Amino acid sequence: MSGTTLAIVLAAGEGTRMNSAKPKVLHKVAGQTLLARALGSVVKARFAKAAVVVGPNHQAVADEARRVMPGVDCYVQTERRGTAHAVLQARSSIAEGYDAVVVLFGDTPLVRTETVQRLAAAVHGGAGVAVMGFHAKDPTGYGRLLTDGGELLAIREHKDATDAERQVTLCNGGMMALSGRRALELLDAIDDNNAQKEFYLTSAVEVARAEGMLAVVVEVPELEAFGVNDRLQQAMAEAVIQKRLRQEALRSGVTLIAPETVFLAPDTKIGRDVVIEPNVVFGPGVVIDDGAVIHAFSHIEGAHIGKGASVGPFARLRPGADLAVDVKVGNFVEVKNAKVAEGAKISHLSYIGDATVGAEANIGAGTITCNYDGFRKFVTEIGAGAFVGSNSALVAPVKIGDGAYVGSGSVVTKDVPANALAVARGHQMVKAGWADSFRARPENVAKKKT
Ligand code: UD1
Ligand code: CA
Repeated sequence: MSGTTLAIVLAAGEGTRMNSAKPKVLHKVAGQTLLARALGSVVKARFAKAAVVVGPNHQAVADEARRVMPGVDCYVQTERRGTAHAVLQARSSIAEGYDAVVVLFGDTPLVRTETVQRLAAAVHGGAGVAVMGFHAKDPTGYGRLLTDGGELLAIREHKDATDAERQVTLCNGGMMALSGRRALELLDAIDDNNAQKEFYLTSAVEVARAEGMLAVVVEVPELEAFGVNDRLQQAMAEAVIQKRLRQEALRSGVTLIAPETVFLAPDTKIGRDVVIEPNVVFGPGVVIDDGAVIHAFSHIEGAHIGKGASVGPFARLRPGADLAVDVKVGNFVEVKNAKVAEGAKISHLSYIGDATVGAEANIGAGTITCNYDGFRKFVTEIGAGAFVGSNSALVAPVKIGDGAYVGSGSVVTKDVPANALAVARGHQMVKAGWADSFRARPENVAKKKT
């Protein structure tokens, strides 16, 4: 059964155990902030709308939310009075009228999109409340799920639980879905009559049941409920996410010679028969077509790598690097915002930025595009089949025509027509026998070692 869903991400926590100047949800795993990750699962789940509840003085969190999802509604929880109180800050979004409201915590990065969808589906299927539950090895601190058969009767916070209830290992993972049509009615009925004097979101279960609604558990492995509260847990979450990403890549037909040394981003797209050597790091926005090889120790971000291309070892591809079929980018080469056409080679020690490189062009070792004058960036255009000699500086804006040659060591400041040769360096001077007469000078003879 389908229906509309509003997602509310609770992101009001300071995260003091991070020992950081910035709020917890702005810390990253797999290159994404915790908040972006939570919102990413909302996007993937194709929910109609999202809202974020941020803490006071957390403009940066709201900014990050809007960067990731421009249409998001942001609310500030000025006083920390419990999870239900936090959700109620998004009252006007809830009042817009959705079939389900899913509440996510901003600091649980291992939750799968599928789980978010299962919770919404349970409510669309008729449940009043659906709660993500898991069996905890050590349930201390978690809310316990009190069940009867398939039904959820109540969630008891650890601090409020009896000894018998504390024996229960089925725990609340935090995330839950509520009937969207009745969410405000449920939330408004929650009181703070408990050990922590907080408005618990978990009380929604008993309120819903008192109203004759059904509450259910959506069970997940314990790992999915894992929350990040300190840097150690941040590193653990990173390791789990990287492992998942590597497994996906391997299953899809990518060779990772040493998988544990390759770091992927959640959006890294890699074609079949791509080989990735050890110690390669991917930032966001990378697409690699079939059969390409990424040699060891390369760093790649915001780049497209064409079919059969070869990159590295020790290459750096920055945003806007677009390599066509069979391009070769070799060791110690940096490419930024540059389109490199089919079969072109930039084999050694170069910087190619804000440029176009034509098909089959050969860029010699040490070629630099001088794209920046300290204020503005300028474009270098290198034609198809051009041959740029080693250690040339191409001072942009400048064009090297198709099939043209640039002599080694040139500093090219003017356009070079197609099929021309440009040499822009001092002429070589040769003085026969000069070295002998130099060494024979009296002052040099006196210094000569015996
Ligand atoms: C909560 C659940 C508990 C569950 C556990 C899972 C409640 C009452 N309890 O407990 O059943 O087992 O998570 O980790 O929901 N927050 C706000 N504003 C507030 C209070 C909390 O935004 O006023 C946010 C926090 O920043 C955090 C989340 O809500 O992201 C959970 O709050 P927290 O205080 O950590 O709840 P727990 O006691 O861990
Ligand atoms: Ca918590």
